[in-house]
Amino acid sequence: MEVKERKLKEGVYYVGAMHWDRRLFDDLIPLPDGTSYNAYIIKGTDKIALIDTVDPVKFPVLKENLKALNIKKIDYVIANHAEQDHSGSIPHILDMFPSAKVVTNEKCKVLLMEHLLIPEDKFLVINEGETLSLGDKTLQFLLTPWVHWPETMITYLIEDRILFTCDFFGSHLATTELFTEEDPKVKEDAKRYYAEIMMPFRTSIKKNIEKVEKLNIDMIAPSHGPIYKKPEFIIESYKEWISDKVENIVLLPYVSMHGSVEKMAHYFMMQLVKQRVNVEPFNLTVTDTGKLAMSLVDAATIVLGSPTVLAGAHPAAVYAAHLVGALRPKTKFISLIGSYGWGGMMIQQIQGLLASLKAEFIEPVLIKGYPKTEDLKSLEVLATKIAEKHRSIGIL
Ligand code: FEO
Repeated sequence: MEVKERKLKEGVYYVGAMHWDRRLFDDLIPLPDGTSYNAYIIKGTDKIALIDTVDPVKFPVLKENLKALNIKKIDYVIANHAEQDHSGSIPHILDMFPSAKVVTNEKCKVLLMEHLLIPEDKFLVINEGETLSLGDKTLQFLLTPWVHWPETMITYLIEDRILFTCDFFGSHLATTELFTEEDPKVKEDAKRYYAEIMMPFRTSIKKNIEKVEKLNIDMIAPSHGPIYKKPEFIIESYKEWISDKVENIVLLPYVSMHGSVEKMAHYFMMQLVKQRVNVEPFNLTVTDTGKLAMSLVDAATIVLGSPTVLAGAHPAAVYAAHLVGALRPKTKFISLIGSYGWGGMMIQQIQGLLASLKAEFIEPVLIKGYPKTEDLKSLEVLATKIAEKHRSIGIL
């Protein structure tokens, strides 16, 4: 694809790379639609700036794109974030352009020195609100901590009203489309991204959105996924996701060894449906953890299902509980259903893993062996309790 086509505005160009076939991020997060590492060149009348770089495996693409734009010098490399999918090619850029300065905040500088071994004299450290002139174009830097690392910041190109947000508002989506307006597919991938990366930082995100909304923005150019020509599309989506509003949904991740928990999960699901509560079941042995994370964004209740293995929950259920605890969704109610042969400490174990959630723990249903009539009755009672809880917060 010709770089000439990749123009955001006069003097502002896309020079990033698509990673179409990447299927896992951080060796943890599934990428069903690949991803991109967006980098941008800004040509001022006096200076040239590169906004972020790309994952080192895609440095040849960045290099080719710079060559196609006939870039003979770079004065500033703006590092909005130290994670290596954006910063990893900075050392290569400094090799190509030895006089370039890495422009970033103090926290990011320290991380880049530690992770990429960039010498301290290569940095130009900026503070909140500071500006940097490129001649006819001016960059302003705004610190946006904890979206999703402590050093994250965003860069505003004042004259062109473009906001470069790095991970903030991004989506793991490889596409030939440079821009998006209101594409539901982009919203879905941005929600997946939010759920997997940003959800634990809802409070910080709220503060940082307030900062963003004070700016007059024509475009939001993140470092993953397409550029938003309608910034309000993604800003409003984020506001919806970070709000305290939950939906009438029970998220039911479960795992079963010999069929007891599976029978419980299916029966319990039917009882919830009878009570007009929606259910999103996830058999953990075949679950895309990204989809599970997306469901966590809205669900009012999580009920985990697990058999007892070596006195505790099944490792797949432990993994799911650990993930939920780490992602800290806004879930209001949690519970547990499961089975055991002769005893165990599953309840305490799962409660411990979910302790970070500000959610009410509803009495679990743990049964001995295969579910019998009285056990099914206990599941009906649990479904009724959950429906009552949902009514009590006005979502049913
Ligand atoms: Fe896309 Fe936090 O790196």
